Amino acid sequence: MTPGARARTQIVIVGAGPAGLLLGQLLHNEGIDAIILERRSADYVRGRIRAGVLEQGTVDVLARAGVATRLESEGLVHEGFEICFRGRRHRIPLKTLVGKTVTVYGQTEVTRDLMEARVACGAETIYEADDVELHDLDGSSPWVSYRHAGVAREIACDFIAGCDGHHGVSRRSIPADALKTQERIYPFGWLGVLADVPPPWHELIYANSERGFALASMRSPTRVRCYVQCALDDPIGNWSDARFWDEFRRRIGAGPGDQIGAPASIEKSVAALRSFVVEPMRYGGLFLAGDAAHIVPPTGAKGLNLAVSDVFYLHEALRDFYRERSQRPLDEYSARCLRRIRKAERFSWWMTRQLHHFPDDPQSARMQERALEHLFDSDVAQASLAENYVGLPLV
Ligand code: FAD
Ligand code: PHB
Repeated sequence: MTPGARARTQIVIVGAGPAGLLLGQLLHNEGIDAIILERRSADYVRGRIRAGVLEQGTVDVLARAGVATRLESEGLVHEGFEICFRGRRHRIPLKTLVGKTVTVYGQTEVTRDLMEARVACGAETIYEADDVELHDLDGSSPWVSYRHAGVAREIACDFIAGCDGHHGVSRRSIPADALKTQERIYPFGWLGVLADVPPPWHELIYANSERGFALASMRSPTRVRCYVQCALDDPIGNWSDARFWDEFRRRIGAGPGDQIGAPASIEKSVAALRSFVVEPMRYGGLFLAGDAAHIVPPTGAKGLNLAVSDVFYLHEALRDFYRERSQRPLDEYSARCLRRIRKAERFSWWMTRQLHHFPDDPQSARMQERALEHLFDSDVAQASLAENYVGLPLV
């Protein structure tokens, strides 16, 4: 690196997942410059299959960011979902209970919309940025080094946003004694399959069966997304499509199970389940957002929604800093995010606890029976579940 060749921007964003891309868009709309550094290629980022359920607060932020045109026309608005317990199905009528809905729209589509908006506004994203390292986080002039196409480069900035997911470099760059970490690893995973077939269910079905958890979800009127709880030591190579659909059918209950058939998978992957939170979400000039700071098990459908609430708060804090030179919102960022995160962690834990087979806890089935019977009998308990599922407003 030759002296003086260091580039400069206001914010370096590490990671072009939904958190990084949305933060980039919200900052661009406020006239704040940011460069995104992403380890993977654009095609890899575009192809990743993950979340499916967006809270209304998330939809509102995406609309505010100007990236919701396709979401508003193609997203599927759901007024409820079902829980199937040992073959009996119970509907949780979200709209009736709390007057709110959720929208089914794939994370892949959110990412695509954000990537297109970023290209359209001419903002810079550097894909395939290797060896990203963060420097001088506790000083007043943080900077970032990386390699691109074999060439060492540096960017100086005012702040760094660590939006690089659970395995990224940002959280690891903070001294361990400056963070408090809470973690729980679950003794099972989710095996997910995507298939091009019209969903035979109108709403999502979360099933607790004696053979374990299953989820019937969708991505569009012609595409299903389905999951079964699986053992982490059962390699994905052992899961033929036929085995997956047979297991799914046995868990999800007769109607939908019989109607789905055994369509060919177009994607199949295993996700481990964990709960994880660090605090504070700030260290000097580095702000963590999204999966870089916290992970929830996917049963509550909260991960992407939390990533969106974090970057919404972060963009507000940065906007106020540049407009008014006010430090206060930056100082309050972590606590503001953590209030929502704690609630989502508790809810995701509750959903996971009630719906999965816990191989190491023989008491769990009886506890689940009590909790779910109470839920199905109590409007108050259902309203509380609905309130947590639809989430809090943001804008
Ligand atoms: P990520 O999506 O992980 O993005 C981080 C980015 O940083 C990646 O592009 C990565 O390549 C990049 N990166 C990593 N390291 C570096 C580095 N060193 N340098 C540069 N770049 C780097 N959430 C919901 O809200 N609703 C759901 O229905 C839902 N369902 C889910 C189902 C499953 C099976 C799973 C696994 C998750 C689900 N989630 C759901 C969670 C959701 O997918 C995540 O919370 C979301 O992707 C977090 O976004 P992020 O941008 O913080 O992180
Ligand atoms: C999904 O469609 O991928 C999905 C839906 C609901 C969840 C988790 C994942 O709780």
